[in-house]
Amino acid sequence: MVKVGLIGYGYWGPNLARVINESSHSELVYCADLLDKSLEDIKRKYPKVKTTNNYQDILSDSSVDAVFVVTPTRTHFKIAKDCIMAKKHVFVEKPLAYSSHEARELVKIAKKKNIKLMVGHLFLFNSSVIYIKNLLQKGALGKIRHLHFQRRSLGPIRKDVNVLWDLAPHDFSMLLYFINEKPISVVASGECYLQKDTEDVVNISIKFENNIISNFILSWIDPIKIRDITIVGSKKMILFDDVQISEKVKIFDKNANVIKATRGVSFGEFQIALNSGGIYIPRIVNKEPLKEELNHFISCIKENKNPITDGKNGLEVVKLLEASQKSLRSNSRVVEIN
Ligand SMILES: NC(=O)c1ccc[n+]([C@@H]2O[C@H](COP(=O)([O-])OP(=O)(O)OC[C@H]3O[C@@H](n4cnc5c(N)ncnc54)[C@H](O)[C@@H]3O)[C@@H](O)[C@H]2O)c1
Repeated sequence: MVKVGLIGYGYWGPNLARVINESSHSELVYCADLLDKSLEDIKRKYPKVKTTNNYQDILSDSSVDAVFVVTPTRTHFKIAKDCIMAKKHVFVEKPLAYSSHEARELVKIAKKKNIKLMVGHLFLFNSSVIYIKNLLQKGALGKIRHLHFQRRSLGPIRKDVNVLWDLAPHDFSMLLYFINEKPISVVASGECYLQKDTEDVVNISIKFENNIISNFILSWIDPIKIRDITIVGSKKMILFDDVQISEKVKIFDKNANVIKATRGVSFGEFQIALNSGGIYIPRIVNKEPLKEELNHFISCIKENKNPITDGKNGLEVVKLLEASQKSLRSNSRVVEIN
């Protein structure tokens, strides 16, 4: 049984507390939050859990094996670093940190202290996303050309970070999971409609080698909830509509390709052929992503494995966020990704 401490019991913390307690391999023993009201809430739900306003109390409790950091983004670095220094395995909610410099340091010290560092990139534990990854790995779509990600709804609106740092970690983590290549550059634009210096609508375009392009629309102020991804390959195309309750993934037997003309045109001319075939809707058994994520972290601790969303993976996502932010704040300049 892995004994767990939880730092941050606001909006998201209760979801993690639930899965930690439901698992037969982990037990929530300690919770820290700055707000007494949060601690009263968790005490009411889980009376055995010890509570404190000072997260250092969790770190000095030798019975705690692992800590979940579920506090606002800008606090992740300091709290995660303190956890690692106290030799606690640490799960940090997305994004890992608020700069690549911070994320790199966390990766470095976790390695030095031999601590498991995992980032809460939840979508990598989503059954539909794993199904799509397997299809891409088999080459079922042909050559990947472009990807569109949309994450739009009316709120919830954050005050600590802009819509980029709030929502893009989900899409960037999936992008890097799907496209096993190095991104080379990013262009981003956005506007602050509701809060000063906090973009609530952002558009991003990221280029990869091999002519792959990916586009993102992120918004906190849209009329309906849209969470979808389109992936276009040279043979087939996929739509993942995460708002649907079932039949979230559709595979379209459609493509557009340049072919060498055989009749009616002179030698050497080319034509573009549009092919429109059927649609295949696979049956995907949905497992709860949060439980899958928790199980993965616990099994990495128990079996000394490296998490798939480890610190290095978290750093790659932070690098994309940082480069997008740079472009956003420099009049949509093209920013190279190192
Ligand atoms: N994976 C997901 O789908 C998902 C969804 C929502 C939020 N999140 C992530 O979870 C994290 C928290 O988001 P939230 O929406 O719960 O925020 P929130 O503001 O609702 O809650 C954060 C809590 O942390 C507490 N806190 C802040 N500093 C603290 C400290 N030093 N010590 C102890 N407690 C402290 C606050 O009092 C608050 O109760 C963020 O990183 C966010 O990106 C992930």
